[in-house]
Amino acid sequence: MKNLAIVYFSPNGTVKKCVESIARGIEDTLTEEVSIEHINITKKENRNKELEFYKDQLVIIGIPVYAGRVPNILIKYLRTFKGNDAMVFPIVVYGNRHYDDALVELGDILEQCGFRVMGACAAIGQHSFSSTLGLNRPDENDVNDLRGIGRRLYDNIISKNRFDIDNIPGNRPYRPYYQPKDRNGDIVNFKDIKPETSNACIDCKICYHACPMSSIDYDDVSKIQICIKCCACVNQCPTGAKEFLDTDFVHHRIELETDYCKPKKIEYFL
Ligand SMILES: Cc1cc2nc3c(=O)[nH]c(=O)nc-3n(C[C@H](O)[C@H](O)[C@H](O)COP(=O)(O)O)c2cc1C
Repeated sequence: MKNLAIVYFSPNGTVKKCVESIARGIEDTLTEEVSIEHINITKKENRNKELEFYKDQLVIIGIPVYAGRVPNILIKYLRTFKGNDAMVFPIVVYGNRHYDDALVELGDILEQCGFRVMGACAAIGQHSFSSTLGLNRPDENDVNDLRGIGRRLYDNIISKNRFDIDNIPGNRPYRPYYQPKDRNGDIVNFKDIKPETSNACIDCKICYHACPMSSIDYDDVSKIQICIKCCACVNQCPTGAKEFLDTDFVHHRIELETDYCKPKKIEYFL
């Protein structure tokens, strides 16, 4: 292994922290200096570069789970990656409900791009919708566990162990996107909902810079175009001025917080 690259989409920072923790575990075991390339694909303008990797490179790629799958806005872009037989370790981070078919889907995409999949991991991050679900995760224990997984991954590479992608849990064909329900149990579609902006807004533009879709109008930050519900603007607003007020969305959040409060454990496959 001559070079380590980390690639992540992380509107709220939990995926970034998980990916960096695995990279730190690999660094722990290295005897000689290896350069680490950081590739942050969160912002829209960073997702138009063609990414090409090379043999003898180890790439850790992290994404959040959206509706049990790879976020659909990323699929087309991920498919443009040129693996060139580089080793890859996919990691998905989910908000303590479940990762469903996201990890197997990410593994498949990367294999089809010409990477050699060396293992995989599903970690837990605080749910972007919630101030309680998966609170503060990845926490100190998670960071230590992820460092340990990084060390084990490196040992496997040194031992030339092979990984079979079929060891990643999930369904093929992938199940449909997870669908939230309203209080009557009917399926709801959040496609068109957007955060509201209250008069607590101080026009600091943090939300404008945080939006991974570049959807927030600079001159009037209450105007939002396509919203993927990532919650970066809501969670980074210093005055709490941005909020999803849609009653079905609020119901879904409360239901998640009630049904999935038991902390899940990191899973890894090597
Ligand atoms: C639109 C959307 C859909 C999500 N769907 C799921 C899901 O199906 N299962 C789950 O456990 N968490 C889900 N989450 C939570 C995120 O996967 C989790 O909070 C992740 O840590 C966010 O990564 P980030 O902090 O890097 O943005 C969802 C979050 C968003 C914004």
